[in-house]
Amino acid sequence: MKLSPSLLASDFADLYREAMSVAPLASSLHWDVMDGHFVPNLTFGPPVVNALRTKVDLPFVIHLMIDHPVEYAPQFDVRPSDTIIVHVESADSVDRALDAIETTRARAGISLRPGTPNDCLEPYLDRVSMVLVMSVEPGFGGQSFLPDSLARIRDLARRIAGRPIEIAVDGGIHAENVRDVVRAGADTVIAGSAVFGASNRLAAMRQLLEAAQ
Ligand code: DX5
Ligand code: ZN
Repeated sequence: MKLSPSLLASDFADLYREAMSVAPLASSLHWDVMDGHFVPNLTFGPPVVNALRTKVDLPFVIHLMIDHPVEYAPQFDVRPSDTIIVHVESADSVDRALDAIETTRARAGISLRPGTPNDCLEPYLDRVSMVLVMSVEPGFGGQSFLPDSLARIRDLARRIAGRPIEIAVDGGIHAENVRDVVRAGADTVIAGSAVFGASNRLAAMRQLLEAAQ
């Protein structure tokens, strides 16, 4: 299992140090970009992510919870090992959003809300390197994992069998449920409060990685 800490739960006054504190055990850094429209919350956008991009060497995974990814995706100064994720429910055309990500040369990913059927992903599966399954309603950290997410992950794993698509799962994951999430088919686990809510970030990450086995 790969672990991707979500900076949403970190100390925003100290983003650089927070990012560096998880670097030894993180396979990527997860950025929750919110616009106050697609979700009822606002976080950070391209200027903040790009500033950190020049200073931190981990791959970035940029989770766009915004209505207009076509306009904003190209504003991220990403590297080819980074991933930009759009929501299938965004107001823009998903194909146009994936075109916009292609111009950045980063990997493309797609995400879906807990209530959106996996069927909606089918038209895009040949265009993405990652599917991000939301296991909470997007918008806020620290929510409880929705139990029916496990069946959704298993269904997705069956659909994409044989295709080079990473399954990432996002929301409400902690040491008590991480093993179920991985057994259902997750390659990557996103953890916000389980990592940044702990005083010792690396110990919390080690605990998650061990619990997953
Ligand atoms: C929710 C975000 C998640 C969130 C996860 O909208 O997409 O990435 O940061 O936080 P926890 O792990 O606290 O549920
Ligand atoms: Zn996220």
